[in-house]
Amino acid sequence: LNYRVPRTRKEIFDTLVKGLQRLEYRGYDSAGVGVDGPRKNDNGDNVNICLIKKRGKVKALDEELYKNDSIDLDIELDTHFGIAHTRWATHGEPNAVNCHPHRSDKNNEFVVIHNGIITNYKELRKYLKSKGYKFESETDTEVIPKLIKYVYDNSENDYVSFSTLVERVIQQLEGAFALVFKSIHFPGEAVATRRGSPLLIGVRSKYELSMEQIPIQYNSTGELLINLNRVDSTVALHSVSDRKAVEFFFASDASAIIEHTNKVIYLRDDDIAAVAQGKLSLHRMSRCAGEDPNRAIQTLQMELQQIMKGNFKAFMQKEIFEQPESVFNTMRGRICFETNTVVLGGLKDHLKEIRRCRRLILIGCGTSFHAGVATRQILEELTELPVMVELASDFLDRITPVFRDDVCFFISQSGETADTLMTLRYCQGRGALTVGITNTVGSSISRETDCGVHINAGPEIGVASTKAYTSQFVALTMFGLMMSEDRISLQKRRLEIINGLRMLPGLIKEVLTLDDQIKTIASELYQQRSLLVMGRGYNYATCMEGALKIKEITYMHSEGILAGELKHGPLALIDKHMPVIMIIMKDACYTKCHNALQQVTARQGRPIILCCQDDPEITKNAYKTIELPQTVDCLQGVLSVIPLQLMSFHLAVLRGYDVDCPRNLAKSVTVE
Ligand code: G6P
Repeated sequence: LNYRVPRTRKEIFDTLVKGLQRLEYRGYDSAGVGVDGPRKNDNGDNVNICLIKKRGKVKALDEELYKNDSIDLDIELDTHFGIAHTRWATHGEPNAVNCHPHRSDKNNEFVVIHNGIITNYKELRKYLKSKGYKFESETDTEVIPKLIKYVYDNSENDYVSFSTLVERVIQQLEGAFALVFKSIHFPGEAVATRRGSPLLIGVRSKYELSMEQIPIQYNSTGELLINLNRVDSTVALHSVSDRKAVEFFFASDASAIIEHTNKVIYLRDDDIAAVAQGKLSLHRMSRCAGEDPNRAIQTLQMELQQIMKGNFKAFMQKEIFEQPESVFNTMRGRICFETNTVVLGGLKDHLKEIRRCRRLILIGCGTSFHAGVATRQILEELTELPVMVELASDFLDRITPVFRDDVCFFISQSGETADTLMTLRYCQGRGALTVGITNTVGSSISRETDCGVHINAGPEIGVASTKAYTSQFVALTMFGLMMSEDRISLQKRRLEIINGLRMLPGLIKEVLTLDDQIKTIASELYQQRSLLVMGRGYNYATCMEGALKIKEITYMHSEGILAGELKHGPLALIDKHMPVIMIIMKDACYTKCHNALQQVTARQGRPIILCCQDDPEITKNAYKTIELPQTVDCLQGVLSVIPLQLMSFHLAVLRGYDVDCPRNLAKSVTVE
């Protein structure tokens, strides 16, 4: 942050802590801040850095800041750069020592925060130890501040700028990182860079912005462009009237800074950004020559309100209830109900190529993988192509053959999941056409794919994904409709689905009115250890997704079982004690599901059944029913997943758990 008006340290803490709280969904096992200390040199620059770290959630850090008597909260600082981090442990258990910022030495000469993973940290650690560096944590990150100090100490004879030091350091790093550095040798400056992990810069200024040495340029959408090919690949941005009248914010995602500014620059891999004296300099490492040199200052549409909880108890609950709107937003402007056409702008130029392909491969992790499973059947029907659905990690483990005429879809809410991103690069390397289905504008997956669809569900904060799933589901279905536009034999079916989509937001609203009933059922189940979810056909994915929600946030054991496999093992689990949720909808699998129900009741199982309204045959055999409105078979999964989302939410609340921050999990898994 660069402040024109002096701010007290308390104000700086508040900005950092609030930013961390908005990012807490990404990790929350420990948190820390690094701010300038009170000591000043003859020029009035701050010359020491104080680090405060705490195990636990950001709230614990916040309390710690006010407990510490040695920190003068009222002291006013003019230009200031504070850094803060909330951690999701990969290397080293969650405790204050392993928490960020990490430092080069006891004097805090260089301090660093890091998101990602350094894969060659063992070699670097060994080397630095041989040079006498003492490590205090078990993290991979700690090699970074040590390495920059080593580079600094060994280049004493010539003046090296802070960003050059960082450039030299990242040349030695392997893995994924977004980094922000701060140093007592460069007071009032900060340097940030990334490779593989997301990083953006927020820019706030009352005044018009200007660029050093080069004239201002805009792109076709009116965004200010920073062309990194100009002026030896470093350009500087500042405010026209007064350099100091501009503030810069670095963050892993926009939700951390949206209350300060909606003007952001997304950094690309190996970009280096430095802030000093109210000026932001962007620099591109030479080895990236050939890539797009333009970085635009984009205006985000995200509203602060979108990332606030409002009257809901948890973000997850809010996001479940947002689904009538989020699903509508996925369709908005893309389906014409008069002409029954679907246009996905990001795919239309590639449609011919996709129609000629050998097969479609849908790839994702967690919930996003389930969205692929959920839509596979309708895509097979509408595209008449073979469709594979793959877990990203497994796809890579198998070194799966991929061909130039394959079309690979990368489904990811965050657009940053490391396994999915690695698989994307793998498929790209083999010449396949790559398509992104993401919810995050500017994310790595949306940028690196050849084309794609943005699902427009709005920011999703709860770790357990809900509205992103239903929007991914709808987006993939729309893709199928777009592909089949010219197939005469499929017109009736298309029409039926398009009508179904039109009614969907209204039906979702109807399903949400079942909340109280679901809460009552949850109050009977919450002390159970296990919960099975069974179904087949279009609703197999619903079972897997429902079971994932339950295990993620309630910590109950839960399994999604394909009813067709019941006799091949799972039936052994059924007795009068084992709760089973069964999904039995009026579709082609109805009779087969009914048979599974008979087998469950014959073993004294007491099934809770998700079924269509007015189905007396089912009601009669059920211990309890949750009756849903009926829609087209291939869209029914959008409705049937919602009671399971609500069920998992209520179970978790009843069991006393933090719904938005389940233990051991993180929203955006940027490590393999
Ligand atoms: C994590 C989250 C899941 C999510 C998965 C894939 O495991 O906890 O909720 O489904 O990552 O994330 P993506 O952002 O790629 O959809």
